[in-house]
Amino acid sequence: MSDSGATPKVSRKVLSRRNSQGVFINGDGRQMGAAAKYELKNPATSRAAELNIMSGTLGPDVLDISHLTRDLGVFTYDPCFMATASTESKITYIDGDAGVLLYRGYPVEQLAEHSSHLEVANLLIHGRLPTKGQLDAFRDSITRHTMVNEQLLRFFQGFHHDAHPMAMVSAVVASMAAFYHDTTDINDPRHREIFAHRIIAKLPTIAAAAYKHTLGQPFVYPRNDLGYCANMLNMFFSVPCEAYSIDPVAAEALDLLFILHADHEQNASTSTVRLAGSTGVNPYAAISAGVSALWGPAHGGANEAVLDMLDGIGSAANIDKFLARVKDKSDSVRLMGFGHRVYKNVDPRAKIIRSMCYRVLEKMNKGNDRLFELALKLEEIALKDDYFVARRLYPNVDFYSGIIYSALGIPRSMFTVMFAIARTAGWVAHWQEMVSDPLMKIGRPRQLYTGPTKRDYQAIEKRVA
Ligand code: ACO
Repeated sequence: MSDSGATPKVSRKVLSRRNSQGVFINGDGRQMGAAAKYELKNPATSRAAELNIMSGTLGPDVLDISHLTRDLGVFTYDPCFMATASTESKITYIDGDAGVLLYRGYPVEQLAEHSSHLEVANLLIHGRLPTKGQLDAFRDSITRHTMVNEQLLRFFQGFHHDAHPMAMVSAVVASMAAFYHDTTDINDPRHREIFAHRIIAKLPTIAAAAYKHTLGQPFVYPRNDLGYCANMLNMFFSVPCEAYSIDPVAAEALDLLFILHADHEQNASTSTVRLAGSTGVNPYAAISAGVSALWGPAHGGANEAVLDMLDGIGSAANIDKFLARVKDKSDSVRLMGFGHRVYKNVDPRAKIIRSMCYRVLEKMNKGNDRLFELALKLEEIALKDDYFVARRLYPNVDFYSGIIYSALGIPRSMFTVMFAIARTAGWVAHWQEMVSDPLMKIGRPRQLYTGPTKRDYQAIEKRVA
């Protein structure tokens, strides 16, 4: 509770407190920014709190409000985290206004052009581009951890054939905690490393098993002679009765999509992994929580929803009618694959995926050109429409990704699973960063309580409906 009903006022005043290197630091020794502090004052009581400013290497300054309750007896209110940095992180930087995405400082466009998913996973986790020796060792370890315990595979028999693959994958990932509990001491760096390799290696195997279960086909074992994405395609599409040849363009396209989806700083699923992980829970349980959070259509489920939407629109002639519904506030329809909490400019990942669509569709010739053409037309019309212009809504990463997955023969219900496989690298990097921080504490938001005040229990016969 506030110490008075009066509204606190924020003012800025100059202060300087440097450490011996001339760097501004707060009470925990963390680096702060400019020589300024904010002051939050309650005019009714003249009680004030000084708010330290923390500066990162990029991006806006952050006000440290962690002492506010102690100093003024108030909480801050920021539902849906519109203006709250929930953590300090060195992994990924986004400038949503400029359309910039950096993994450990490297522009995603450069990584998309020159790197591979496993190299990016290694970069995200370790914070530097690996040497050849480091990358070879990492790739080798991932390759040799791809098999899963046979008992774990039996879990799939408990699911109905039409279970959504995301439901199966989140459940099976959570149950990995029951199989690999020998190496889940989160305070042991070697255990953390083994966990990281196991989850990155085994998720494609689990995803493929979920897919095969929906088809009623036998599970296909991983092959150590194939790369990460080629092996995944083989586990998805090969059958014991005939030879399957892996299309290198398909494997390359998948690898590129995985690079683009590998991390996105404190998004909903990553924040979920961090919050679950902050309790000290087994890391497989934390990743399973992330898989579940990813599933929603406002997040990773959008890729599936985009294709459903395009099917529903049917042809370019119906775009205006569809957009009229999107703009009608009494209608719940949204333009899926458009808009983003952080990007108020073109999502750089969407640009790369759109240009990849041309190449993949030409090579695959799978008849998805119609949907791609419709998506291009929809984007063109929406980007000129005042509704989208005023709200700065642009295509996000998932507007075009489903078109590529479809062209590769991956069914819609598996799209978000593919996203989960890619994002596992980011989830692991964030979980590692959090648990190796000696200042880690359980995450515990506060609330503005608006329910009933204290009241007495009533006997059932005295209650009215
Ligand atoms: N279609 C229509 N209107 C939209 C859309 C959309 N896709 N996105 C935002 N808006 C409108 C909102 O109605 C709101 O309008 P108002 O100011 O008149 O009320 C305004 O734009 C701001 O939108 P919010 O919902 O407040 O923005 P928020 O940051 O909370 O949501 C989100 C971001 C969830 C991504 C939203 O843009 C959305 O629902 N997009 C469609 C789903 C999607 O593509 N999700 C994938 C995101 S990328 C990812 O997670 C992988």
